[in-house]
Amino acid sequence: MIFTVAIDGPAAAGKGTISRAVAAHFGFAHLDTGLLYRAVGAKGGDPVAAARALTAEDLERGDLRTLEAGQAASRVAVIPEVRAALLAFQRRFARRDGGAVLDGRDIGTVICPEAEVKLYVTASAEVRAHRRWLEVGGDEARVLAEVIERDLRDSERAEAPMKPAADAVVIDTSALTAEEAMARSVRVVVGKLGRQP
Ligand code: DC
Repeated sequence: MIFTVAIDGPAAAGKGTISRAVAAHFGFAHLDTGLLYRAVGAKGGDPVAAARALTAEDLERGDLRTLEAGQAASRVAVIPEVRAALLAFQRRFARRDGGAVLDGRDIGTVICPEAEVKLYVTASAEVRAHRRWLEVGGDEARVLAEVIERDLRDSERAEAPMKPAADAVVIDTSALTAEEAMARSVRVVVGKLGRQP
């Protein structure tokens, strides 16, 4: 069975939590596409060469979840050749047999416009910064400034900007618990798939 769930949205909106929950619920494979850009940014050197030579081990580095790695990812993600180098792998993953969940910024718009389900998971910048700050600590105002800076870069770039697909279901998690957000997302997928797993 080919069935793709595309989950897009800004940093710390809850995409990861929702993606893992949907994948586990339906037994689908999951790809966190942000990790690809984070690994390219963390490799240093020429980002286009890094993207073309990306390996599975590159995705296992322990330092890919930091704020700095997120900023580096967002900077290399504006380069069209970097995005092109990562495209085929993501498309193959999306259409693999058995179902797939991909989360990122451009999954429903560019990587998999034919996805059976598209969710756009968002929340206010303040709520997202607060969640990120609970994880990383430090100065909350700085975390908010970084969230806003990254949102702007990701949504205003020329190539595959972050935006909801025209046919995406928007889920605003600002006032939802993780459980509520996961349950709502699973319901949307059940609606399209026509069955519980
Ligand atoms: O989802 P994340 O925070 O791990 O993503 C890190 C950066 O990678 C994000 O700021 C922009 C970029 N990215 C992208 O351009 N396209 C994707 N599909 C996923 C991530």
